[in-house]
Amino acid sequence: MSTSSEPRQITIFDTTLRDGEQSPGCSMNLSEKLEIAQTLADLGVNVIEAGFPITSIGDFEAVREIAKSISGSTICGLARCREQDVDRAWEALKHGTDVRIHVFLATSAIHREFKLKMDKQEIIRRAVQSVKRAKSYCENIEFSPEDAARTEADFLCEVVEATIAAGATTVNIPDTVGYATPAHFAGVIDNLMNRVPNIDQATVSVHCHNDLGLAVANSLAAIEHGAGQIECTINGIGERAGNCSLEEVVMAIRTRNDYYNVRTSINTPRLVPASRLVSSTTGMLLQRNKAIVGRNAFAHEAGIHQDGMLKERTTYEIMRPEDVGFTQTDLVLGKHSGRAALADRTRALGYHLSDEQLAAIFDDFKKLADKKKEIYDGDISALIEQRNTQIADQWQFVSYNIQATSGQTPAVTLTLARGDQQHTSSKNCGDGPLDALFRAIEEITDTTVVVRDFRVQSATRGKDAQGESTVEVEYQGQLYRGRGVSTDTVEAGTRAFLNAINRIEIGTSQVNRQDTI
Ligand code: KIV
Ligand code: ZN
Repeated sequence: MSTSSEPRQITIFDTTLRDGEQSPGCSMNLSEKLEIAQTLADLGVNVIEAGFPITSIGDFEAVREIAKSISGSTICGLARCREQDVDRAWEALKHGTDVRIHVFLATSAIHREFKLKMDKQEIIRRAVQSVKRAKSYCENIEFSPEDAARTEADFLCEVVEATIAAGATTVNIPDTVGYATPAHFAGVIDNLMNRVPNIDQATVSVHCHNDLGLAVANSLAAIEHGAGQIECTINGIGERAGNCSLEEVVMAIRTRNDYYNVRTSINTPRLVPASRLVSSTTGMLLQRNKAIVGRNAFAHEAGIHQDGMLKERTTYEIMRPEDVGFTQTDLVLGKHSGRAALADRTRALGYHLSDEQLAAIFDDFKKLADKKKEIYDGDISALIEQRNTQIADQWQFVSYNIQATSGQTPAVTLTLARGDQQHTSSKNCGDGPLDALFRAIEEITDTTVVVRDFRVQSATRGKDAQGESTVEVEYQGQLYRGRGVSTDTVEAGTRAFLNAINRIEIGTSQVNRQDTI
């Protein structure tokens, strides 16, 4: 691709709060969504898809509150091609100053025949009608022909032309099932660019799922062929194998600007803090070798690489860690550090804490400094994220006492709090300390689950490092994740399990979205 002209601006549309939140175990409460929305706005995301208002009260309120309070990004709400969906989306968005309604309807033969039982003409009629209804409410309208990558080329052109004529300002081409490959997807975009007569009246967007691990590659191929918007999520979370990862696609565009000659408005040093926030909020741990934001993404282990790096960094490094938000100074604070030093460090790590939040984190920090001599950036992030994962007015961990000997049933006493009431369970049960504590939590909260996954890893280095634990549980056929942090790994595991139980309360208050997509 030629690079002599001015770089073209690509719109970054983030759907962490909608498609990301749809992935099993990732449901978030309102304050978590507001915090992520603010982080996305600070990151420089152009469009934030805040939810799917018709699906639940939780989604509706999230879209409404985000539209009212977040500035700097367009706030978008999703709707099917149904009157009540479009009206509900508008109801949620109407108090915002910069908003978009996103309507979608499946177009592929498989979806038409088996899911919708509609013929082509009916699909076009409904899509046009819904775009027009949305347009009667606001100017900024996106239309998505769901499963576009598997839709017949001629029919896709017809749908796109009709919806642009009806008022869509963005037409989004989803690879809903992650079926496309880069050359194929480039062909889908080329077909639209060359054959839809009014294509220049709308922005062409792409929305790629990662079932074949190709979501970023397919999005980049679409950019090369003229797409102007990429839909993506932080850490690539989303249905099944997830969506195009925001940090990967943005850094590919930035690093290979020589080739693509496009740019984004993303403030890249905020990528790591945003990634950590989404990971801690959803409980979805990052693999260590995750591109851009994984813990090992900039770690050079091989001697030959280290030698090269010392001679000239660019021998083995195509991006600088600080460009994506890994800070260079790691060892930061200790027992004698004051609140101002902590505030300074939290800002450098990309967190916005209110005075009240800072005071709470400072308390946690002092307690940690009594147990641990050296406090690293990772420890500070873990403390903040630990607070983030605690859900107000639900079950809180207070204390545990356990006597455990290998080969014998442990004796456990666990105290939890709900509001100002404390609840204690004392029993002999379980196969080891954590099993006993999990059973005590189930008894106090009157919630029985099946543990599907349980992990503990260290937040930083050293024997006194904090343990970060994640747990995945199944409750009534749905998965819920929890996360807990402590220098005591048993406490970290207990907190993670309790966090998952708390999330069941949020999750069960939402309708099952399979019914609505
Ligand atoms: O994957 C998909 O097709 C979607 C649409 C709603 C855009 O998420
Ligand atoms: Zn999707």
